[in-house]
Amino acid sequence: MQMTVHRGGLASAAPGAWLEERAVSETSGISVDPLTPRIGAEISGVDLTRPLSDAQVDGIRRAWLKHQVVFFRDQPMEVEQHVAFGKRFGELHIHPAAPKPVEGHPEILVVHADEKSAYVAGGGWHSDVSCDAEPPMGSILHIHRVPGSGGGDTLFASMYAAYEALSDRMQHLLEDLSAVHSSEHVYKGRYGHSDKKTLRDGDYPSAEHPVVRVHPETGRKAIYVNWGFTTGIVGMKPAESRALLDFLFRHVTREEFQCRFRWRPDSVAFWDNRCTQHLAIWDYYPEVRHGYRVTLKGDRPFGTSTADAGAVRMRRTA
Ligand code: SIN
Repeated sequence: MQMTVHRGGLASAAPGAWLEERAVSETSGISVDPLTPRIGAEISGVDLTRPLSDAQVDGIRRAWLKHQVVFFRDQPMEVEQHVAFGKRFGELHIHPAAPKPVEGHPEILVVHADEKSAYVAGGGWHSDVSCDAEPPMGSILHIHRVPGSGGGDTLFASMYAAYEALSDRMQHLLEDLSAVHSSEHVYKGRYGHSDKKTLRDGDYPSAEHPVVRVHPETGRKAIYVNWGFTTGIVGMKPAESRALLDFLFRHVTREEFQCRFRWRPDSVAFWDNRCTQHLAIWDYYPEVRHGYRVTLKGDRPFGTSTADAGAVRMRRTA
């Protein structure tokens, strides 16, 4: 069943939201433990190595939409189980440039760092592959090995919270703007493609997206520019664009919009790229951190000028 919601549909916790979440928990058996009031929750009571019931998928999806990133512990998934879990939430995305070393699984992005690494995936604040015309909806990272001495945490920031903290004036200014998201500067040095034919699309993707994105399922507004991929504001002079982006890149990573996840082997994080950004902290060199990510296809971002509140839909399978 689909339910139409108005803009701001799942906006922060409405009075009945807790009851609703508890009801889901009663039918799916999962429990949801928020990490902060604004972003992040740990989910327990579900075994991701086994096929999930529709009620479990629905419960996870609701928690994910509300908390924007959800975490699971002690999930020793094989690659096929990881892929099957991802497919319960949507079609899988193929990365435009990263190598595909897991045979038979081009949808797996390997996240690995060791003493030979010159970079780590996600070492700057970003929303995954926002350079795609239809950027990924979500990502599911399963970390297999963590550094022995600790470290390697991931920070997540709520772009709803970042938008809502701005003045009305700034919100209105941003709502009229689009930004360019490029990838050559990110992927060329990292993956060293000498021949563009080896890229997914034969070139490095680049796209224009609204600076304030309306989430297609919750109807909430989120800032959608990020340090990793966003290179300019459309229609502004370079100095204006630089100044505005510098402000936004600082603003979106304020600590009160964030949660921080400490990984253990077989922890899983499932984040919504439409309303969050993340940063992988590389404080463990030369130790090893290793895992796999599957990424869910998304749709073309739209802003407030193209959003019809009545058309914003929240998926529900109650
Ligand atoms: C990523 O950006 O997908 C990597 C995040 C991480 O390694 O924690």
